[in-house]
Amino acid sequence: MDKSKIRNFSIIAHIDHGKSTLADRILEITKTVSKREMQEQLLDSMDIERERGITIKLNSVQLHYKSKDNEDYVFHLIDTPGHVDFAYEVSRSLAACEGAILVVDATQGVEAQTLANVYLALENNLEIIPVINKIDLPSADVERVKEEIENTIGIDCSNAPLISAKTGLNVEDVLEAIVSHIPPPKDAVDQEPLRALIFDSYYDKYLGVVMSIRVRQGSIKVGQKIKFMSNSLVYEVTEVGIKTPKITKKATLEAGEVGWIAASIKTIKDINVGDTITSENNPALEPLEGYKKLKPMVYCGIYPIDTNQYQDFKEALEKMELSDSSLVYEPETSQALGFGFRVGFLGLLHMEVVQERLEREYDLNLIATAPSVIYKVYLTDGSDITIDNPAKLPDPQKIKYIEEPFVNVKIMTSLESVGDLMSLCQNKLGTYRDIQVIDDKRRMLIYDMPLAEIIFDFFNKLKSISRGYASFEYDIIGYQESSLVKMDILLNGNKVDAFSMIVNKQFAYQRGNALTKKLKELIPRQNFEVPIQAAIGNKVLARETIKAYRKDVTWKLHAADKSRRKKLLNKQKEGKKKMKEIGNVEVPQEAFIAVLKLD
Ligand code: GTP
Repeated sequence: MDKSKIRNFSIIAHIDHGKSTLADRILEITKTVSKREMQEQLLDSMDIERERGITIKLNSVQLHYKSKDNEDYVFHLIDTPGHVDFAYEVSRSLAACEGAILVVDATQGVEAQTLANVYLALENNLEIIPVINKIDLPSADVERVKEEIENTIGIDCSNAPLISAKTGLNVEDVLEAIVSHIPPPKDAVDQEPLRALIFDSYYDKYLGVVMSIRVRQGSIKVGQKIKFMSNSLVYEVTEVGIKTPKITKKATLEAGEVGWIAASIKTIKDINVGDTITSENNPALEPLEGYKKLKPMVYCGIYPIDTNQYQDFKEALEKMELSDSSLVYEPETSQALGFGFRVGFLGLLHMEVVQERLEREYDLNLIATAPSVIYKVYLTDGSDITIDNPAKLPDPQKIKYIEEPFVNVKIMTSLESVGDLMSLCQNKLGTYRDIQVIDDKRRMLIYDMPLAEIIFDFFNKLKSISRGYASFEYDIIGYQESSLVKMDILLNGNKVDAFSMIVNKQFAYQRGNALTKKLKELIPRQNFEVPIQAAIGNKVLARETIKAYRKDVTWKLHAADKSRRKKLLNKQKEGKKKMKEIGNVEVPQEAFIAVLKLD
């Protein structure tokens, strides 16, 4: 293969600016997929991606393009997610590319995630091609958006393709720009010892672990013995191929190509995304540079509702980790919820998506506790510990002080929302840092605030205040001392460890009050009275009571009404599916995350 004719690129953008739609058009124009096979958002292959209309997993596909000057090119396109929680997927895709197409919505302009993705692309030394999308919409303001890109990112937009990914208008210009602006793979020499970067993987029942790879040097073929440079394990390659986007087998993958390999690997732990593959009999000396592993910042407990599902849950997590290497977990037990796992996530959406995928793809019924950040606790005996579960906070007498993670938040918003958003940040204990002018209508607010406050309903409030227009991103800046206490929730006089939370003293009373009220709404009546209390140590901050049922809903029915009775009971059972019995109180899933939606 002529290496000068290969182009490897990603499409990056803020959420909803049209990456997946552009990928669809490119597949169509290059006839990679026929019109008949075309369905919307072809590369978003998971159900949950289609339903939510978002990309979660990266996806790669090989396509062929005949340029206007009649040369044949091989493109590898890697679609990437736009949401901040999946930035890890973006940075991995970028490590396999030489260029990135930056899609910006002509009706919206530069958003927080546009910037964050550009920084990632620049870190990977990628050539960036700005593309202005949605020009078919009447509210498109191409000149303003061009100016924004030039001012905030510093990329020349005079030749940026102006397209409609929806109608296909000018999409061909993007393909020509890829040919002329993105360099072919550097150092792609077939004769060198093999070095291939693993940038993704998943588990297949028949093939074992399937790895997405970018071959940097050398080539990889069926039957070859390969070695993983991180652990020196050797496997024989059983299949190699590309995606078109159908899984397509090939005999060899050459230097410069992006594709997949399988080697009958059944032990998931043997594979590390970011590892370098070399050949056993002619190994490379140095591995490729991997990527920095992102540390999860948000943790929650996840428990099977049916304790018999524990083993299945454990196996599901192992498989999930393969296709989502940002996931971390360890076993945990809760008095209230039994055996489960403490699982770490990059953010809240990531947490929701993982839970949903686990339930759907592995047929599990799970319950998740309210998320928590990691606290650093300094003890009076001079030692310090880290805590990802509020229930584990030691007695207050043993604590000297507690530190929590702080983030630097950048919010991009229209001028009208600036005042309200500043109040929101202040209410969330934010410290004002700066306000920057993007253009005459938009501003960037910069605040430092506790990460925990971002988890507690920041996103929803930001969206409702700005009527959906503001966007934000954040970077962890480090740990700072805060005035924190543990608040416990008692149901029927029993402390429920899964409800414990660490709160800023300022908010303890207010949140205790709101939470007990919310739990009263969410926990159904039982046949006895259930007091709900919020307490710090022995001090009760708030109390609500769930009244008892008067009567069994079915007791009055006659024998002839048996079928109706059965129906009623079944209905009750259905409703209980997502309930967990704690002590003798039935608690629904929503109760555990109610704390996230307190006013
Ligand atoms: P994520 O994968 O969630 O990050 O989003 P994305 O950037 O891939 O956006 P997607 O392609 O899903 O497009 C978002 C919405 O914008 C969809 O409803 C598209 O139909 C629409 N859209 C995309 N491109 C255009 C366009 O050129 N014109 C118009 N009118 N709508 C578009």
